[in-house]
Amino acid sequence: SSPALVRAESLIRSIADYPQPGVLFRDITPLLADREALHATTEALVAPFLGSFDVVAGIEARGFILAGAAAIAAGSGFVPIRKAGKLPAPAASVDYALEYGTATIEMHDDLPAGSRILLIDDVLATGGTLAAGRRIVEELGYVVTGISVLFEIEALHGRDIVGDVHTVFRS
Ligand code: PRP
Ligand code: MG
Repeated sequence: SSPALVRAESLIRSIADYPQPGVLFRDITPLLADREALHATTEALVAPFLGSFDVVAGIEARGFILAGAAAIAAGSGFVPIRKAGKLPAPAASVDYALEYGTATIEMHDDLPAGSRILLIDDVLATGGTLAAGRRIVEELGYVVTGISVLFEIEALHGRDIVGDVHTVFRS
């Protein structure tokens, strides 16, 4: 990978026992703060999918940061997939299990039927979040033409339940 991506990877910080004992938290905020690293990783997130999606969907909360940047980089629109109770007119709702805890996501249905969606999040851990993201998009009649993630924790085998997913960095 490019020197910018190698440097970007070095800016991902691992923090033990956050937010709970036993969890090794991958903190991407140092990467986000760096102009060159943010630019290179945003390009790497969308590059394999350019031309094959209409809209980027990001998953609250950390997914919003990269998905918004990706939408700008790709010249597409952005749609939020939010935690329960945050959207004014949710059209679908999906419950899922997390590495720590449980959650529910919701999404609006304002896109044309069959819209092609690039789904983006920051980290792929157990895969529960992205699998739920895929499910909610498909429940609304849209098509997931790509899933892209900044960091994959391979030991948790998330891709077994998420399916085909592009990841920029992994451990
Ligand atoms: C984190 C992370 C991913 C998800 C990955 O989100 O941002 O979305 O966990 O875990 P999984 O693959 O096991 O589902 P979290 O729900 O902690 O909250 P946040 O994005 O709102 O900070
Ligand atoms: Mg998240």
